[in-house]
Amino acid sequence: TGLITLDVGFKNTGSTQSKITYLDGDLGKLYYRGYPIEQIAEKSTFTEVMYLLLEGELPTQEQLNKFEADIKKNSLVSVEMEQILKAFPRSAHPMGVLSTLTSSLTAFNPKAVNIKSEKDLYNAYTLLLGKFPVLCAWTYRLKLGLPLNYSDNRLDYPHNFYQMMFKMPTEDLEVQEVVVDAINKLLILHAEHEQNCSASTVRMVGSAHTGLFASISAGVSALWGPLHGGANQAVIEMLEMIQKDGGDLQKWVDKAKSKNDDFRLMGFGHRVYKNFDPRARVIKKVADNIFNKLGIQDETLEIAKKLEEVALNDPYFIEKKLYPNVDFYSGIIYRALGFPTEMFTVMFALGRLPGWIAQWKEMRINNDPINRPRQIYIGNPKRDYIDINLRN
Ligand code: CMC
Repeated sequence: TGLITLDVGFKNTGSTQSKITYLDGDLGKLYYRGYPIEQIAEKSTFTEVMYLLLEGELPTQEQLNKFEADIKKNSLVSVEMEQILKAFPRSAHPMGVLSTLTSSLTAFNPKAVNIKSEKDLYNAYTLLLGKFPVLCAWTYRLKLGLPLNYSDNRLDYPHNFYQMMFKMPTEDLEVQEVVVDAINKLLILHAEHEQNCSASTVRMVGSAHTGLFASISAGVSALWGPLHGGANQAVIEMLEMIQKDGGDLQKWVDKAKSKNDDFRLMGFGHRVYKNFDPRARVIKKVADNIFNKLGIQDETLEIAKKLEEVALNDPYFIEKKLYPNVDFYSGIIYRALGFPTEMFTVMFALGRLPGWIAQWKEMRINNDPINRPRQIYIGNPKRDYIDINLRN
């Protein structure tokens, strides 16, 4: 079989060629289809970014209008799906519910996508883009035991999502705009990140020509883990724990450094960024903006800022090039906006959906082969079977 190169965790293995995202971890650069993330987060909207990732170019106004209308057309979710949702206990983690519901879409839309037909592909992914935000909002309504809200197609995407979650919280339009602008930016920052664990999962599953919805459902499960998208939930839980414990930050930084302790500073470090995570810079600004404009005093935010300072001045974190990542501040913002902790990773999934679909589509259109890594076997050499009554 020839020589096999061992690369545990794929730290240095390129799994595909891609035109979607450029990432330079040493210089902290991230471009979607060539456009720097800072410009996109400042100037674009989430629906426009979805179009860019999926179609490769920024849309004209006419193209964007049609795309948004097609997403809205697909925002009805069947009564049967509602029944599946309601069969879950309120204790279920929203990410588990979301993964199941996403996979269930296959049952109601069983026809395989004809990858050669642009129309078929477009119909499949606009169906998913239309229904996914409804499903995300419903996992929240289920969690809180609240009646479900439906899509209101008069509203734009972030306003519509917000009303499906909370109904409109206030008549104060200025506050509403601050909140919706933050959601829009967070979704954009999470929209795509090349061959991360969940995108690679989507490609891995899809490479067997498994359908779009089942592949995306696998991506949701991958994102759930605390080393990946689950980090935003883990960060808040960590900050609350530090706060309860008396707020001795050096103690926790020392714990994270200790070889005898499994504790890690959640929201710190990244597989690829060894300088800084450009998304973290944008997100910190969004956090400051939200807290100033809404006049919120949040002790957790203060602890986060101090923890960042202590860690960034610590030789261990400097030497290992560990910087705050995108998830260090995203949970704090979501919490300020009224999202319960268990919903943070769902918000990440909502943002990442277009990235996953773009990866799936690119892989299938390029006709990439089935993903099938090799291994180096380190088990027993060949031995003969021993009858059960002769074993000791
Ligand atoms: N706290 C303390 N030490 C750390 C941390 C941390 N957060 N992250 C890495 N290290 C140490 C690690 O112990 C190792 O030390 P040594 O070389 O002495 O064994 C060294 O830094 C390299 O770490 P690694 O685990 O080999 O690096 P990796 O590329 O396999 O892992 C990571 C990357 C993001 C999983 C890791 O940094 C981590 O667990 N961070 C905390 C979880 C987190 O915030 N995840 C979100 C990532 S960004 C959003 C996303 O991708 O979803």
